[in-house]
Amino acid sequence: MQPYQIDLERPFYGDIDTSMLWKTRYGATHPVWTPFQRSADSTIWNHFPKMESFMRNRQAQCRIFTAATAKIRGCFKLSSIPVNAPLPAAAALFANVEMAPRDPILGVNESFNADTNPNKVNLGVGVYTDESGKIPVLECVKRAEVAMAERSAPRGYLPIDGIAAYDKATQALVFGADSDIVKNNRAVTVQAVGGTGALKVGADFLKRVSPASVVYISNPSWENHRALFEGAGFEVRDYAYYDSATRSLNFDGFLAAVKAMPSGSIVVLHACCHNPTGVDPTPAQWKEIATAVRAGGLVPFLDLAYQGFGDGVVEDGAVVRLFSETPGPIFVSSSFSKSFSLYGERIGALSVVAADKDEAARVLSQLKRVIRSNYSNPPTHGGALVTAALTDPQALLLWNKELGEMRDRIKSMRVALHAALKRYAPNANFENILTQRGMFSYSGLTKDQVHRLRNEFGVYAVDSGRICVASLNSKNVDYVAESIAKVL
Ligand code: LMR
Repeated sequence: MQPYQIDLERPFYGDIDTSMLWKTRYGATHPVWTPFQRSADSTIWNHFPKMESFMRNRQAQCRIFTAATAKIRGCFKLSSIPVNAPLPAAAALFANVEMAPRDPILGVNESFNADTNPNKVNLGVGVYTDESGKIPVLECVKRAEVAMAERSAPRGYLPIDGIAAYDKATQALVFGADSDIVKNNRAVTVQAVGGTGALKVGADFLKRVSPASVVYISNPSWENHRALFEGAGFEVRDYAYYDSATRSLNFDGFLAAVKAMPSGSIVVLHACCHNPTGVDPTPAQWKEIATAVRAGGLVPFLDLAYQGFGDGVVEDGAVVRLFSETPGPIFVSSSFSKSFSLYGERIGALSVVAADKDEAARVLSQLKRVIRSNYSNPPTHGGALVTAALTDPQALLLWNKELGEMRDRIKSMRVALHAALKRYAPNANFENILTQRGMFSYSGLTKDQVHRLRNEFGVYAVDSGRICVASLNSKNVDYVAESIAKVL
């Protein structure tokens, strides 16, 4: 039989046979229950009962066909379905599974780990390493860990929405403890599996309440944003954000794009330290953006993965508070991966602002349903550590101090990299490294230059040219600058 694959992006015209159905389920890049669009040609529906009973009899993936709402894009002629065809051999199950491309960010780690170059430097993934090149364990975390070990706390299931004190403390951090939103119980916060998990819970929930909305992400954006919202079933489009010629914000383009978005669209905004560019709007520009978002009836989804890496915890929450002062829903995904140096603990949170307390309670009940059917409830350890640090005034002070040290060291590495580049490549302009904020610098290096850096010097960056300044230290910064200069 022909190895067919349905390309869900394009209508398919032609015969279909059972092998095609199997391949679609097991072989195509999109599983078949990705939402389809119904064909104008309804002949397909006449064949469904036959197919359904055939698949049911064979204990097959009848889920594909039983959903009464299943819709298929394109126009299939089903006349050639051999209803009594034998089941495909189990050995053929994965025969047409394609090799997925490496993840654009975490895949860089895999290549880096496999590299034997003793001088290698990983500027790919967004991870802060200290002067000795190690991921630090913060003192506030160590103390919480010791106290936890002494208590030897049992590890029962957490509530679906996580540790209540954690949710409350995160909410205070995000909106401000004294904010009207918090005081009036208009916000609900759920512990999530990292910032990514928070985005996913928010995306799945939004798909239930606003299935036809389009999601807008910045161009460029964090590589996973598109995959995440598309995975939740949304159409994802770009909005103008970065001007590569000036290596700065294309504010006019950004604002115009926001104004042109259809009402009800979801707009993903980086609340501080834009990933990957490190380029943020000014407070005045944010004001204009927030006004346009509200005037256009858009749903802001603020990604707050780097709170504390720009100017400080409170300062970096300013954009959330700006939106909080305007009526309308808000989604905020937070991450403590970076700010607590707890990457592997996968500790984040999703906060949603509703119109009032009653609406918020209903939203929370639905978020819990999304969580329960995804991963049931969050893990205990990271949540307990962060709760301990955020709820104890001494530990909170210590955390702020340690976070400030990480922030300052990143800034000093920007200065050091810029100075070294000036020495090795006096004619090149890298002023952007000094003005960008947070962990990343959109260096302006092309994909070819990034590949040369990797292959010839063992210096790893993301293909987009994004480099993680937080992985530089006084021992590797010179080598990195020299290597960059050689690929220009
Ligand atoms: C990054 O952008 O490098 C981090 O947010 C890590 C990740 O998950 O991509």
